[in-house]
Amino acid sequence: MSRGTLWTLCGFAALLVPLVVADTPANCTYADMLGTWKFSVSKGGNDKTLDCTDPGPATNTITVQFSHFSTATVMSSDGYNFDVNGYWTLIYNQGFEFRVMNRKFFAFFKWKGEGKNVTSMCGEIMPGWSHDVLGHDWACFQGMRIKPEQKPRQPTPAVYQSEAKERRLQQNYKTNLDFIEQINGAQSSWRAGVYPEYEKFTHAGLIRRAGGRKSVLPHRPRPAPVSEETRLAASQLPGSFDWRKVRGLNFVSPVRNQGQCGSCYAFGSMGMLEARLRVLTNNTQQVVLSPQEIVSCGKYSQGCEGGFPYLIAGKYAEDFGVVLEECYPYEGKDSSCKDTSKCRRGYATNYRYVGGFYGSCNEELMQLELVKNGPMAVAFEVYNDFMHYKGGIYEHTELSDPFNPFEITNHAVLLVGYGTDPKTGAKFWTVKNSWGDTWGEEGYFRIRRGTDECAIESIAVAADPIPLMS
Ligand SMILES: *[C@@H]1O[C@H](CO)[C@@H](O)[C@H](O)[C@H]1NC(C)=O
Ligand SMILES: *[C@@H]1O[C@H](CO)[C@@H](O)[C@H](O)[C@H]1NC(C)=O
Ligand SMILES: *[C@@H]1O[C@H](CO)[C@@H](O)[C@H](O)[C@H]1NC(C)=O
Repeated sequence: MSRGTLWTLCGFAALLVPLVVADTPANCTYADMLGTWKFSVSKGGNDKTLDCTDPGPATNTITVQFSHFSTATVMSSDGYNFDVNGYWTLIYNQGFEFRVMNRKFFAFFKWKGEGKNVTSMCGEIMPGWSHDVLGHDWACFQGMRIKPEQKPRQPTPAVYQSEAKERRLQQNYKTNLDFIEQINGAQSSWRAGVYPEYEKFTHAGLIRRAGGRKSVLPHRPRPAPVSEETRLAASQLPGSFDWRKVRGLNFVSPVRNQGQCGSCYAFGSMGMLEARLRVLTNNTQQVVLSPQEIVSCGKYSQGCEGGFPYLIAGKYAEDFGVVLEECYPYEGKDSSCKDTSKCRRGYATNYRYVGGFYGSCNEELMQLELVKNGPMAVAFEVYNDFMHYKGGIYEHTELSDPFNPFEITNHAVLLVGYGTDPKTGAKFWTVKNSWGDTWGEEGYFRIRRGTDECAIESIAVAADPIPLMS
């Protein structure tokens, strides 16, 4: 799997190299997955460093049916089904993971690029990785959908910007005081202000920092309905909660700055594992983990062009582990993977979309997960106005800056708390950003809760780190 090739959270490839072929969007949906797929699995072994670019001859095939409620069923050739307890989930619009016969399978969807014309092929995959649930026996696999549940869509070619717009995005950002005044005049829930440092960024750099162009989902899931059980459980929770102030202790690691690299997914992921380690060990393990090792070495993400917390805090941390910041310091740019054999690796397990699968999230489930297990990675849509957030409870104003081009992005961050404003009664989430501690409310922001503001209640991700002993 070549890196830097997919549109992702923080993803941004095409803009920097507008005429290079490698920048392509896999842009697939839940409905594309439904139906029957056939996979061929290559010979296995105990080597997890295996390169699946060329999977080699198949030694096994399996046929799997993917249905609603994340059910995956293995089909035998005589039509008799077995292992009806299989599980699958979509991973954003980029790929999927399924678990059958105590093996996990993960692959990105296939795409095809010719010049600037790129098309997602949602009934096929790039070669993917499979291993048993314990992570011992590894193999590569390929596959395609042989019977769609619905009529397959025509492949949609990606939409590209004009070259004039590409050039415009390479120019520097210029503060527009009128825009800031307009935001402050339009509402009183939050304050907008000037960030002088933005003038050092290009428009493109700011967009990448905010999650990356085209990271926005065309068919993102809405929050799932709340079950009676969940409602009852959530009603027992405290009215407000903040992992920075639990029994007088702070369980959240310091705010960091990702710079112009589209690595929000790595910061959100490491931030979750750091905080949850503190929670699990009553603050006796206060580590800072390395986002750069993810950017430079991660097989399941695309470096400074983006990635997903589900695959990083979750799958990568389970399959390969993560290392300490001091062993692999942050560079804020793409670079080749250094030897990490001297770095001790820590692991996480039980990674999941909050609610169980992609599309099953909601406010109450997020509150329960937060209070019970610790901070979690969330993603939300960043609009032009958000860039000027200085404090208060953010709500998108619908205003946009006519002078500074911007595109809506999807940005990964860390949810640490929730509460209600005593004066206005407005409910909010408290969220840790990775834009330095002088941004927003000391590196944090609050955003309206209960209304899926900017899609923040649709795709939360959790994973459980495993503390190292000694
Ligand atoms: C891209 O697609 C357009 C419209 O289908 C076509 O005219 C053009 O030749 C294609 N360009 C390349 C480089 O394939
Ligand atoms: C993804 O596909 C949808 C249609 O399913 C389309 O509206 C959207 O523009 C596509 N996104 C990209 C980045 O090509
Ligand atoms: C957790 O740490 C705090 C502060 O060091 C200490 O007061 C408390 O007793 C610890 N709790 C447990 C259960 O060890």
